[in-house]
Amino acid sequence: MSNLKIFKTPLQTAQGFGDYLFEQASNKEKFNVALSGGSTPKLLFNYLAEKYAKSDIWPKVHFFWGDERCVPPNDNDSNFKTANDLLLEKIDVPNQNIHRIFGEDIPANEAIRYGQEIDKYVAKKSGLPCFDLIILGMGDDGHTASIFPNQIEILKSVNMCEVAEHPVTGQKRITFTGTVINNAQQVVFLLTGENKKEKLAEIISKTGGWQSYPAAYINPQHKEVQWFVDRAAARLVK
Ligand code: 6PG
Repeated sequence: MSNLKIFKTPLQTAQGFGDYLFEQASNKEKFNVALSGGSTPKLLFNYLAEKYAKSDIWPKVHFFWGDERCVPPNDNDSNFKTANDLLLEKIDVPNQNIHRIFGEDIPANEAIRYGQEIDKYVAKKSGLPCFDLIILGMGDDGHTASIFPNQIEILKSVNMCEVAEHPVTGQKRITFTGTVINNAQQVVFLLTGENKKEKLAEIISKTGGWQSYPAAYINPQHKEVQWFVDRAAARLVK
């Protein structure tokens, strides 16, 4: 499968994807990227900061987030804080290029506001904002961004963003919908760890419970979804 790239370790996965991301951004006059959250991208952010901190491409990169926890930007749970601490503070990116989700604001209002921000800054294709690249993770329940199995209808929302709720903690989230994700020029899943192996195998082979996993419905219309994974996550893929 050409869209599945398997690396030996989480670090090598992050490095492989980091070099790919940098090369994609280097080829564009302006590059709109949406970052994923959680812990997996931390290795990616560290690698980009170590290897490319001195690069002159950053002023043309605009950073967005595919989802955010409804917490203040200085909260350790904030996806913005993670990216800012590990990467954004270490590169020459103008503040106006950082389009964080205001996790501290009323969720319903912020979902609307962020949709308007995307509409303003991201060029359209097929009548919808078309990100150059959206990075996604996948939870071990098959969720992606903050589209959880028990709120799978968010995939089909006509809006760019919706308010979601973590099924266990009840934490409110702002999330991209499937509408904006599947209109991106490129979507890449960055996945590592044993705890992803079952869901990844089921999604790739369309077996087991794959139809209940939101990550299974990420089928970007402009280019086939790509998976950058480590051997542990790919262990059950045939
Ligand atoms: C979030 C994410 C979420 C994440 C997966 C995987 O805000 O939590 O965007 O979709 O990518 O839950 O998280 P890990 O990388 O921590 O396994």
